[in-house]
Amino acid sequence: MEMACMHMKMRALALIAAGVAATSAWSADTDIQSPVVAGGSGGFALQRPEIYHAGWVDLNKNGVKDAYEDPAQPVETRVEDLLARLTRAERLGQLEQRPIRNGTDRKDAALIAAGGIGSYLGAAPEAGPRNRLQRLAVEESRLGIPLIFGFDTIHGFRTVFPIPLGLSCAWDSSLVERVHTVAAAESAAAGVDWVFAPMVDIARDPRWGRIAEGAGEDPWLGGQLAAAAVRGFQGTDFGQSGRVAACLKHYVGYGAAEGGRDYNTTEIGLPTLRNIYLPPFKAGVDAGAATLMSGFNCLNGVPASGNRFTLTEVLREQWGFQGFVVSDWNAVKELIDHGYAADRAQAAAFALTAGVDMEMVSNCYRTALPALLDAGKLPGSVLDTAVRRVLRVKITKGLFDQPYTKPAILDQAAATALAREAATRCCVLLKNNANTLPLKNAGTVALIGPMAANRHDLLGCWSGLGREEDAVTLQAGLAAALPGVTLRVVEGCKFEGDDASGLDAAVKVARQADVIVLALGEPASFSGENSFRSELGLTGVQQQLFDRISATGKPVVTVLFSGRPLALPVVLEKSAAVLMAWHPGIQGGPGVADVLTGSVAPSGRLTASFPRSVGQVPVYYNYRATGRPLDDYMDGTRDPLLPFGFGLTYTQFKYGATRLSGDTVKNGVITVATTVANVGKQTGTEVVQLYLHDLACSFGARPVRELKGFQRVTLKPGESQEISFTLTTHDLGCWSAEGKWVIEPGRFEAVIAPDAASGAMVGFTLEP
Ligand code: BGC
Repeated sequence: MEMACMHMKMRALALIAAGVAATSAWSADTDIQSPVVAGGSGGFALQRPEIYHAGWVDLNKNGVKDAYEDPAQPVETRVEDLLARLTRAERLGQLEQRPIRNGTDRKDAALIAAGGIGSYLGAAPEAGPRNRLQRLAVEESRLGIPLIFGFDTIHGFRTVFPIPLGLSCAWDSSLVERVHTVAAAESAAAGVDWVFAPMVDIARDPRWGRIAEGAGEDPWLGGQLAAAAVRGFQGTDFGQSGRVAACLKHYVGYGAAEGGRDYNTTEIGLPTLRNIYLPPFKAGVDAGAATLMSGFNCLNGVPASGNRFTLTEVLREQWGFQGFVVSDWNAVKELIDHGYAADRAQAAAFALTAGVDMEMVSNCYRTALPALLDAGKLPGSVLDTAVRRVLRVKITKGLFDQPYTKPAILDQAAATALAREAATRCCVLLKNNANTLPLKNAGTVALIGPMAANRHDLLGCWSGLGREEDAVTLQAGLAAALPGVTLRVVEGCKFEGDDASGLDAAVKVARQADVIVLALGEPASFSGENSFRSELGLTGVQQQLFDRISATGKPVVTVLFSGRPLALPVVLEKSAAVLMAWHPGIQGGPGVADVLTGSVAPSGRLTASFPRSVGQVPVYYNYRATGRPLDDYMDGTRDPLLPFGFGLTYTQFKYGATRLSGDTVKNGVITVATTVANVGKQTGTEVVQLYLHDLACSFGARPVRELKGFQRVTLKPGESQEISFTLTTHDLGCWSAEGKWVIEPGRFEAVIAPDAASGAMVGFTLEP
């Protein structure tokens, strides 16, 4: 059933993508597309300029400025005025979200005009089709309530950036904010009011394909990057043009899917829910996110899309969230499939009363709630609360005052430059023996592997309206970056299948080269929604390819492209150098080439641990201690191959011992300091990380390490810098099972280190 949905969605996107106009400045017009002057500042010939309203729009066409139509009125006044005018059918209509299929779906026209649809998802590439639907709502319906259009702008819209997991490895909130600012502008110009992003699910299991869409395993870093993404999408006011409403998803615990199988059940104890899975959502809510999406997963026996505890007690009562919650695709109806609700009416009642305001696709609300309301089984006030929340966001978005998408000229060159910067910044150097990298005076370079000349898989799992032809391959990137070098390129094998017939030719090319760049990994389709794996190795016959090439004895630089951490101990051991590039987006080729050739030094750090084998999963740095020392497996070590926070660069850094300002917290603060020195021969950037350990916590045992801060430091060769972090008493707290931030006196330890597995902790006391 879900597969069918997925396919339908893919088809809809393909139809949409096929309609994108190839202009050098992407544009949006009202109705029929008009030409854009490439690179110019104008050039629009509006077909229907009269539909642009400056200020007041008489939505119900009565010639009177009613309160809800008046931008000068406070939002709440407008909400209440409008709510009071709505019939029950119109109220239910505001909670109904449908997919756009191939532009205007004529079957929906009557329902839109009757006020029976509140929102669409899956936007058109140009604003024309979107504005046509909007005109039906604004001009044909009784009260002219505009629709709100949502779209999955996950890592870029037309300019495709690295997958979020890759971007998180930059450990840089401002980069995340800049990327999503561009994504917002491109989305908004195409008629998107609202993006289904950022995904802030914590993921500890790389088998789960959606690990690609989030920021990895750490709740603190996840929170920082969630807030940055919200700021990027929404700016300071998501009502401004070029901005979109954000949606934190998938609330909550979705990343804990058992076995890494997507949509699977999740069992998360309260201390872990409060301290690991909820914090990125809280950070996004505090940053002002307009909406949240409730997840597909069943959480501790109660589906996330019918979970009153998480949706109302936590989100509304404890956090004071004012926006609205949309269900994930069909998730309200799926309360039945989970074995939680008996039928559509019960599913609708459970979801609405739990706190799901808008229903994506399955339309149980509109069809099943009237009977329950008639029978007095559901109070009208529950419905009204949800409608208020939706109207509040629509009004704040400015849709009542400017329902139609305006033309916009976008700076494509700047967006492309940012995509290249982001592609360099997501690269994590995992190994570099004997300064194999950067490639300098390389003589003959053999570029081998399924990613060598591959555009498609650079794009990653959610490519929005990105186009393969915008993507620049590693081959093109390296050719441009190494002008004096002979570059010989051969694919060797595909990502999938067992055809090893190309291996001999690849070995031949390898033998004639001075250095080999092996571009391997997994295809984009292996990660993202409903793409989970039971193995974490190279796909197809790539391991054979690697083994054959490695057997030539030539130095091998492996560049890994994937949507998840892979378990590749042999590749790590036998390669001279390994660079993790994720799925880096349309500028992946030039960006990775910048790093390989040293015009940009790598500065990424892992945000998810890399296991040695699938059997170690889940393996994450912020685990709890056990009663006895953690032992190794009978057949292998317990430690990950590469820890959270790990990453090398083209120089080396040396850390001094961690020092404290005292043995106790004084006046509410303690300073943690060290000296970091660049002891190598190149300028480099280090991500200096601060970890804390609370030795005894009666609210629930704390992890052996928790990230509490980081600083990016760029040092010249021979330079050293004093790095210090200030921890306040507040920083020493954690969430209790009840959702209170509690601070318990006692012993703590802290360390400043280059990754989660290094450094010696030093202890201090928080006195009562
Ligand atoms: C996904 C969401 C997405 C939604 C709308 C669902 O299947 O889980 O992440 O936003 O579809 O496309």
